[in-house]
Amino acid sequence: MWKTVLVILCVCYSVQSARYLGLFPTSSGSHYILDFKLMKALADAGHDVTFVSPTKQKEPLKTKGNFTDLELEGFTEKIEKAMVEFNLFDMNKQSFLKMMSSMMSLFLKSTNETLHHPKITQLLNSNEKYDAVIMEHFQNDALRVFSAVFNCPLIILSSLGPNSWINPTVGNPNEISYVRHFHAAGDPREPMTLWERTKNLFFHIIDHFLVLHYSLPQHQQLVNSAIKNPPNIYDLYFNASLVLLNSHTSIYAPQPLVPSMVEIGGYHIDPPKKLPKDLQDFLDSAKDGVVYFSMGSNLKSKDMAEDKKKIFLNVLGSLKQKVIWKFEEDLPGKPSNILIKKWLPQQDILAHPNVRLFITHGGLLSTTETIYHGVPILAIPVFGDQPANAERAEYAGYALKLDYHGNDFTEERLSYLINELLNNPKYRENVQRRSKLFHDRPMTPKDTAVYWMEYVVRNNGARHLRVGGINIPWYQYYLVDVMLLVTVMLSLILYVVIIVVSRICRKLRGKVHHAKKLKKH
Ligand SMILES: *[C@@H]1O[C@H](CO)[C@@H](O)[C@H](O)[C@H]1NC(C)=O
Ligand SMILES: *[C@@H]1O[C@H](CO)[C@@H](O)[C@H](O)[C@H]1NC(C)=O
Ligand SMILES: *[C@@H]1O[C@H](CO)[C@@H](O)[C@H](O)[C@H]1NC(C)=O
Repeated sequence: MWKTVLVILCVCYSVQSARYLGLFPTSSGSHYILDFKLMKALADAGHDVTFVSPTKQKEPLKTKGNFTDLELEGFTEKIEKAMVEFNLFDMNKQSFLKMMSSMMSLFLKSTNETLHHPKITQLLNSNEKYDAVIMEHFQNDALRVFSAVFNCPLIILSSLGPNSWINPTVGNPNEISYVRHFHAAGDPREPMTLWERTKNLFFHIIDHFLVLHYSLPQHQQLVNSAIKNPPNIYDLYFNASLVLLNSHTSIYAPQPLVPSMVEIGGYHIDPPKKLPKDLQDFLDSAKDGVVYFSMGSNLKSKDMAEDKKKIFLNVLGSLKQKVIWKFEEDLPGKPSNILIKKWLPQQDILAHPNVRLFITHGGLLSTTETIYHGVPILAIPVFGDQPANAERAEYAGYALKLDYHGNDFTEERLSYLINELLNNPKYRENVQRRSKLFHDRPMTPKDTAVYWMEYVVRNNGARHLRVGGINIPWYQYYLVDVMLLVTVMLSLILYVVIIVVSRICRKLRGKVHHAKKLKKH
């Protein structure tokens, strides 16, 4: 009896445990959460995990498998120095191309910092064995070289849904005719007009050239500078085994996915935990409900323009609801219904039944969490994907939005929007319906993520999932050459027909002429 149990235990253990290397050099709080949660899920499932990132866990984790931090000391400081020129609140005043190019040079720099970090050099020259390398996709393609160095499959995490940056790496179709580019605004349910589709095509062409012919050659240089026998960057780029997407049809409009793309949107959300006592009491005692206000981890409320801070204070102070505001410094003249804190357990607050409204910058994590818990939002988008997220939430009927840079950012407008969201029940009904869809899945998103990462290792890189269209030239992919051939053939046929018809006509005319002449004589 005991022997059988022991054998079963041994079999389970040896079958399951694999070694995963996670490469996540990012100094952004929300990306760190996504990356950390993914790797922790693997360690919880009994795997041996090495987590490369700029920070270290304060306390050792209690996980079933080993979770080893490999801290890149000094990385954050270097990147923050390079970031000084970016005031995130002012970012979208720049033109689209200017913003793109400064973002790209920043990420090129941080990727280079990573590759040349002493600990990474040591890792690259070590004889460690890994069963898979996992990285987040963010203009850091040179990091794919780890999969070639350790000769193991590459798994990519995308913080967005399918999009024109991530699709080519596994040959997923860009549905240009009906899926809006992630920088374009518009109702995702409405078909695009001719002009919108033309713009959409234009955005996709820019992305294609930026990624494949501008960014990748630069990353090849980085690879060459860090590795002895550098592989070709295009071989690395089209070699990914799996792309995990932080999206779901309860959040985004549905899109086709190739078999090596899997949606795990919401996997980072844990079931709610107990709140600290002061917050619990504050929330429990709010008989008119609570408004929760946070601009996320990258944007700091304290950096907001003074006039905007004043508008928020006046409007929030006049509500009969209580307010919890993530604010990073003292706030003189703070009204008595407002509680401020530097850091807040956002998900546990959203889970509280008294929370009636969430005021957010509209980041992807926040909009996902609000769907999980079914709380309507007022979105105040500032830059990046936030305006598009806000617009999507508004079209889905569980949000209203107020552009941070808009001319209509006034006390009256803010007060109107907050009161509409608090008093009209339709927003809550819509978000509760989405919440139901979010939870209606065959497996939790976290279990789905672990299943597929294990699947890739079990099946030696799962190369049978790769589609044939992964790396054929664009003119073949979009049948441009076929259309040209058909056009040429049709033109030829038309040409021949015209020649023949005109000959016959001339001949007929000639005969008539001849007959007329004969008659005269
Ligand atoms: C965890 O680390 C210890 C010590 O380095 C090692 O003996 C053990 O095999 C590791 N566990 C797994 C699941 O790899
Ligand atoms: C990358 O970093 C190395 C070492 O710090 C440096 O020599 C090289 O010029 C950098 N390359 C780029 C493109 O920044
Ligand atoms: C491509 O992926 C396979 C595993 O699927 C790996 O063994 C190989 O080293 C990778 N090649 C490159 C060039 O990254």
